[in-house]
Amino acid sequence: MSEFKHKPVLLRETVDTLLVRDLCVGKQYLNSGIFVDGTFGRGGHSIELLDNLDDRSKLFVFDKDPDAIKSANLLSLKDNRVQVIHSSFVKMKEELLSRNIDKVDGIMLDLGVSSPQLDNPCRGFSFLHKGPLDMRMDTTRGISVAKWLEKADLNDIRKVIFEYGEERFATKIAKEIVARRKIKPICTTTDLVDCVSSVVHKNEKGKHPATRTFQALRIYINNELEELSSSFPSFVELLKPYGRLAVISFHSLEDRIVKRMIRNFEYPSDVYHKLPLMENELPKSILRSLERVFPKDNEILGNKRARSAVLRVAERTVVPFSNFLKF
Ligand SMILES: C[S@@+](CC[C@H](N)C(=O)[O-])C[C@H]1O[C@@H](n2cnc3c(N)ncnc32)[C@H](O)[C@@H]1O
Repeated sequence: MSEFKHKPVLLRETVDTLLVRDLCVGKQYLNSGIFVDGTFGRGGHSIELLDNLDDRSKLFVFDKDPDAIKSANLLSLKDNRVQVIHSSFVKMKEELLSRNIDKVDGIMLDLGVSSPQLDNPCRGFSFLHKGPLDMRMDTTRGISVAKWLEKADLNDIRKVIFEYGEERFATKIAKEIVARRKIKPICTTTDLVDCVSSVVHKNEKGKHPATRTFQALRIYINNELEELSSSFPSFVELLKPYGRLAVISFHSLEDRIVKRMIRNFEYPSDVYHKLPLMENELPKSILRSLERVFPKDNEILGNKRARSAVLRVAERTVVPFSNFLKF
């Protein structure tokens, strides 16, 4: 198991929202069903969920990160309810179908980056540790941030830093990157920190000047927002009626996607409002938004990462998914 630990955020709140059908086994109330953890990490949420599931249940766990997968494999050796899939959650539907699973009782996603990824200097995710500027969650494919910055166009660098980092100094930072790389490639986290710090002088309270740039490049190199929005419909399609979806996000860009997606499935008629349809022809709600949960003060005191977390929970209705697609 990795030496780097991860403290799960909104742990009980997330697991409780997925457990809807209590089953009395001996003196214990357990749930039964097929569940998916789309972002295993170090398994904090998975382990808590397993503790509340009976022996017939199954938990499919996904992660892009080979280190997370090593950890998941160790768990599956101890618990035969766990099946491990090294893949992005983008492929959740096809991976489950290939295992003869077409419907599940609950799906949870704890988005973004884990503490072991941030704390391991070799992964290049953190501006606090010197290391290669990699930032790939899946180190077995794709290109590192360093490689991308070698050749990327000035305008593309600016756009990524502006859109995914919401950084107002994006133009200055992009120009500095392009100027510096002519002299020496930007290969390490400290090369990038020096570059950003040389042009961003106004510190936001409590924020390192490179925070937004690192966030932006990480989101871009891992295709985080596109993967979330493109796969969301398949999560909804996989849920059984009354099945639950619980998603924890850590920044407004992610949360906006989750909120918009839930809304589109809850009020599909808004999506089609421009079509000339009669009231009774409008598609009905496929999802029902249940709650939005923030960490309590005592959780934030014990875990700084929790400060920006928000959990959104939605429940599948009985309306067939095909009703949504036919329009
Ligand atoms: C915040 S951590 C999850 C922590 C986990 N809930 C725990 O308690 O240990 C996010 C994890 O999701 C993984 N991840 C991010 N995007 C992913 C995607 N599209 N598909 C699969 N895994 C992803 C990351 O590699 C990371 O391990």
